[in-house]
Amino acid sequence: MVMFSFPDGFLWGVATSAQQIEGGQREGGRGESIWDRYAATPGRIADGSDSSVACDHYHRWREDLDLMRWLGVGSYRFSIAWPRVLPAGRGAPNHRGLDFYDALVDRLLAAGIRPFVTLDHWDLPQALEERGGWRSRDTVETFIEYAHAVAARLGDRVRHWATHNEPWCISTLGHAEGRHAPGLTDPALALRVAHHLLLSHGRAADVLRLRAPGSEVGIVLNLMPVMPASPAPADRDAARRLDGTFNRWFLDPLFGRRYPADVIADRVRRGELPGSDLPFVEAGDLEDIAAPLDFLGVNYYSRSVVRAGADGEPVSVPMAPPMELTDMGWEVYPEGFFDLLVRLDRDYRPPRIYITENGAAYSDGPDATGRIADARRVAFYQEHLVAAHRAIAAGVPLHGYFAWSLLDNFEWADGYTKRFGLYWVDFATQERRPKDSAFWYRDVVTANAVPDQAAIPLQRSTRGCSRDLDTR
Ligand code: FCB
Repeated sequence: MVMFSFPDGFLWGVATSAQQIEGGQREGGRGESIWDRYAATPGRIADGSDSSVACDHYHRWREDLDLMRWLGVGSYRFSIAWPRVLPAGRGAPNHRGLDFYDALVDRLLAAGIRPFVTLDHWDLPQALEERGGWRSRDTVETFIEYAHAVAARLGDRVRHWATHNEPWCISTLGHAEGRHAPGLTDPALALRVAHHLLLSHGRAADVLRLRAPGSEVGIVLNLMPVMPASPAPADRDAARRLDGTFNRWFLDPLFGRRYPADVIADRVRRGELPGSDLPFVEAGDLEDIAAPLDFLGVNYYSRSVVRAGADGEPVSVPMAPPMELTDMGWEVYPEGFFDLLVRLDRDYRPPRIYITENGAAYSDGPDATGRIADARRVAFYQEHLVAAHRAIAAGVPLHGYFAWSLLDNFEWADGYTKRFGLYWVDFATQERRPKDSAFWYRDVVTANAVPDQAAIPLQRSTRGCSRDLDTR
């Protein structure tokens, strides 16, 4: 079997986020987050659940760290729960909250696992939401205070810092589409929110560099290739528009190119902006946003194929068999991973890229023998890692890869109905059990190499589709 070897020092990791695994929401002085509030609102979460217990990681973190040691990963990407550190959003930091992460970081380092910290993985303190949340420019300052508090405590040991996770989700899903907390549905808000997130990123980056000298500071974006459903000019224009709002709206200003003019023109036409001067941008903001990045964190799950709707706006073409879909309904599209990485390198030249999330939701659970044969997840990882390897060979400065996720967890508005873990979690007993993908990933991490085929035989027929039928 051929093995695709990764460069020495390539960082292999697993990723989680606080809101999705910790639980312990009323413990240790933690305040309420916008996701606590959102989940408590009837009808918001698919299975009516919430994350008050989740994976109970707040109590079981030592056991979870043993799972990582068993996997052999060199890094763990986790997020700090903002309302654990600043329960009321402002004021003196809650030391008990910081103690929790302090102990986690020490124990990770003792196990030879590098902590890769995300400050904001969506759990804004509810107290700040009540003062305008990310719609308000004041939240930029409170984020900096938060970054300061965390870096003052952990900056002597944490060498990798991401400010925000997926600002597109916060701005668009949370403020334009209402599908995420805080559940607002005003498209005009999304750009303002995105700006405040980016501005707070740039300003917090300075704080992190000061408080954690020598560390790498970056941001995590969810990015995807957008393709037109046909070569027709209208469809191509729809693809341009979605690429603009989804990818370039964040990438361009971060890399010093200001906001994309074509997207601004689209928004003016739609009445979401009064004119080409963005009312929420103040002098100096764009320079602050473009603070040098040590790395770009990329979360990759799928691509999007769009056609032009009535007003030329992008409309997603539904993904259906024979395309292979995960339980999220997302197409498995590893080619897009390669394309995206090459494009990022060509168009933006980030000094380093880390894949901060990549993974797939499949519901496979234990069979009669207790084995969890998640062959589709193994195939997903294998194909995406081969694409990552090709990207490195093509010159992309890719330095690490984090599987999403260590554990099945609270998948936001989908509650517990979608399972992304390398470990299966029984949410009634909190038992963790390695899936076949955990064994497979352990082999990859240990060898620093990916086999040219999935070692475990695939059972794609159970999905009613196969590669042979694939029309891509
Ligand atoms: C990403 C999120 C992460 C997880 C995965 C499936 O958008 O960053 O928390 O929910 O999707």
